[in-house]
Amino acid sequence: MTDVAAEYDDAMPDRVPVNDWASDFDHLSDAWAANMPEILADLRERCPVAHTERFFGAYLVTRYEDIDEVAHDTATFSSRITSVNENHPDNIKLELPPITLDPPDHSPIRRALLPAFNPREVAALEPFVREIVASLLDRLDGRTMVDGAVDYAEHVPVELMNRLFGVPPEMGPQFRSWVDAMLKDGQVDIEIARKANREVQAYFTAQLQDRRTNPADDLVTMVLNAEVTLEDGSTRPFSERERVGALFVLMLGGIDTTWSSIGAALFHLGTHPEDRARLVAEPALIPNAVEEFLRFYSPVTIARYITDDAEVAGCPVHAGQRLLLSYPSANRDPAVFERPDEVVLDRQHNRHLAFGVGVHRCLGSNLARMELVVALEAWLARFPNFELAVDPSEISWSVGPVRGPRKVPLRIL
Ligand code: HEM
Repeated sequence: MTDVAAEYDDAMPDRVPVNDWASDFDHLSDAWAANMPEILADLRERCPVAHTERFFGAYLVTRYEDIDEVAHDTATFSSRITSVNENHPDNIKLELPPITLDPPDHSPIRRALLPAFNPREVAALEPFVREIVASLLDRLDGRTMVDGAVDYAEHVPVELMNRLFGVPPEMGPQFRSWVDAMLKDGQVDIEIARKANREVQAYFTAQLQDRRTNPADDLVTMVLNAEVTLEDGSTRPFSERERVGALFVLMLGGIDTTWSSIGAALFHLGTHPEDRARLVAEPALIPNAVEEFLRFYSPVTIARYITDDAEVAGCPVHAGQRLLLSYPSANRDPAVFERPDEVVLDRQHNRHLAFGVGVHRCLGSNLARMELVVALEAWLARFPNFELAVDPSEISWSVGPVRGPRKVPLRIL
């Protein structure tokens, strides 16, 4: 790996270049963004629990089995902090229920939100998603160059979430910029995250206030009326902080992830003509292919806060530090997946962890799957022939808890 490290001189100028990824990793560097799968492959084999002194000390867990174990030990590995960044753990006070809650507080909040994302509700939204993608594709008709991320992927979840929140379509760019501030730029520059955090809190507080007098069939009203069922069977309303936090996490969880996944799938199809031709010829395979894209291009890496000194895979990990669970790495673990570094569209056994594992497993997975399938079906029906218009190495992948290509220039053939 030292040879590979030498190639990483192009790290962001204001960051100290990584010396050895096992003892000095920097998951917010350009080098990580560009080479994440290779770095993870090396760590899985050589040092499955990496450490860094950066970020006030943090660990990185890369093997499937270890990630699964850590995710289930919610007492030692708390979700009170879910990212590793330049902010000291003591300064992180973000409340995003249910993702920042541990048992026993977690499940009553999660249970209250789950019904909005069950398969029946999601199926009812499918016609609306078909309308969104059709109108986005209409706007691209006749063009020979399009950007799969800028012209398509980034709009699909935002337009859907606007509708779910019951806010005007003009909020789309604002939502995207808040998400970017929280999950991208704000990971390196805390002031950006703080400002976005204040704005989002104020925005959802005002939205909740509005629904008190103008209730509607939307997520804001649902959260406004949500109740926590206590152990004795009695109920209490969500507190205002819980309401704002829940809306916040739905916005954060619902936008960047799907945006990144649709972009990554188009990147893949633009660089693998045989896979593209196969999905055009066999559209029934798309749902299976979506699972494989989720495995291979898994966007989410999330953190835990270590509450007690413990061991992971025999390595000591210390209380007070944070630990990254690399779901993308678990999904390429050769101990679990055959041909892990190949996209196999009709893969049969695919117990991927793209949606996480344990009590925090993605609450929006039904919705995400539907969005991805509909977005790809519609794209391939409209543009069956296309290719990446630049060399794949020119695509830049975002850093932060959610990884995806922000630009995917495509030539329509
Ligand atoms: C491709 C799309 C998506 C991916 C890959 C994804 C991934 C994940 C992952 C890995 C987790 C677990 C986090 C952990 O272990 O702490 C998670 C949790 C969550 N996701 Fe998603 N997600 C996606 C889409 C969505 C959507 C569309 C929504 C809602 C609109 C959503 C809402 C949430 C929420 C609320 C949680 C927290 C659940 C809890 O703490 O119980 N996600 N997601």
